[in-house]
Amino acid sequence: MNLLPVYLAVFFFIVAMVFTWRYYDLKKRMNDYADIVRNYPNDLPTDLKSLENLSNSIATLKANFNHRLSTLGSENARLSTVLEQLTDGVLIVNAQGQVQFANPAACKLFNISNPINRSVAEVIRNHQLIEAWRRCQQTREMQSESVELPMQRQFLQLIVIPDTHEGGSLLAVQDLTRVRRLETVRRDFISNVSHELRTPLASLKALTETLQNGALSDPTAGPRFLSRISTEVDALTQMAQELLDLSRIESGQVELIRAPLSPKKLLSSAADRMKLQAERAGLKLSVICADDLPAINADKARLEQVLVNIIHNSVKFTKPGGEIVLEAESVDGAVRCAVRDTGAGIPLESLSRIFERFYRVDKSRTGSGTGLGLSISKHIVEAHGGKIWAESEEGRGSVFYFEIPLYSYSSY
Ligand SMILES: Nc1ncnc2c1ncn2[C@@H]1O[C@H](COP(=O)(O)OP(=O)(O)OP(=O)(O)O)[C@@H](O)[C@H]1O
Ligand SMILES: [Mg+2]
Repeated sequence: MNLLPVYLAVFFFIVAMVFTWRYYDLKKRMNDYADIVRNYPNDLPTDLKSLENLSNSIATLKANFNHRLSTLGSENARLSTVLEQLTDGVLIVNAQGQVQFANPAACKLFNISNPINRSVAEVIRNHQLIEAWRRCQQTREMQSESVELPMQRQFLQLIVIPDTHEGGSLLAVQDLTRVRRLETVRRDFISNVSHELRTPLASLKALTETLQNGALSDPTAGPRFLSRISTEVDALTQMAQELLDLSRIESGQVELIRAPLSPKKLLSSAADRMKLQAERAGLKLSVICADDLPAINADKARLEQVLVNIIHNSVKFTKPGGEIVLEAESVDGAVRCAVRDTGAGIPLESLSRIFERFYRVDKSRTGSGTGLGLSISKHIVEAHGGKIWAESEEGRGSVFYFEIPLYSYSSY
């Protein structure tokens, strides 16, 4: 009997059994391995011989994944820091118009503490800006809009960029208030300077023409016109000097020469310089100051210039018989100087503006100059790290204060 087919059948059966067993064993090991990958990703066995390749690949994959995750994490942290420090506001809005993210600058610009999940309209509260966002949602194109918020005295620029993946948008808001203000100041400055120059130049022209037309030979009118020319030239020279001082101080070209300075000495020396002018104007000028006030670290010549500017104003705007008192006292960490007068006073609405360049309360007031003195004084005081301000009651007088910190080292 031929047993070959039986042997063959048994052989194939055994081979089939071995492969089946190998197949199920491999399947079981893979399932076990998958369980470990799922539940204990940090304890991947690397000693499973039969799964060595797979195990190695997954371990490499895991290492790559972890590396990418940590890179993403640090990029995320960097981006958050940038967004937090950014002075421009950034809002991310979803397709439904709800705010998903807002950086601190955006919260500050729109004056809102918790904008997340609120609607765009609720957060930005300005119809022109809302309209720009709507346009972007409809057209899926970048939109920009600038608005002035008169109540907040703010000038904002909004750029809305469509988010191509999510159907939402990104809103970037810039506060251009300062830039706008600087532009206005620059424009005003140029027009003020030309205006201030025009008046004396026009009188100079008129005076010289009158002299040319025969007044030069007139024994009384000739010298009078010449003396008026001299006065106008003096005024122009003073204005040129003040403008020069101001631009040098503003551009930081003036260096303070600081040294310990006794407040009493400072007040007395400014008073000495202005005594004659005050007497001529029929005013009493006095100094009230303790001897033992702490010394300030200041540039004497510059601070004296501040006091002279303020006293000069008091002399100009106080009627004969009035009084000017210079005082100094020690306040928390600083020395405060004050100049009181019994003059015309300054209306409340002008008090905050008198330190601006060329600002004069009433241009027709007698004795008023170019409006630069207080603005120069403000720069000098601020260069010392201090502050200057005024209080006044119209018709009763004014008090000008400035404070110099005892331990300030700021200078131009
Ligand atoms: N003590 C004061 N009493 C009343 N008004 C004052 C007094 N000090 C300043 N002012 C007002 O503030 C304005 C600005 O003063 P500021 O010293 O800057 O300019 P000015 O005196 O007009 O010109 P400048 O000082 O350049 O010659 C003055 O024109 C005046 O209207
Ligand atoms: Mg002045």
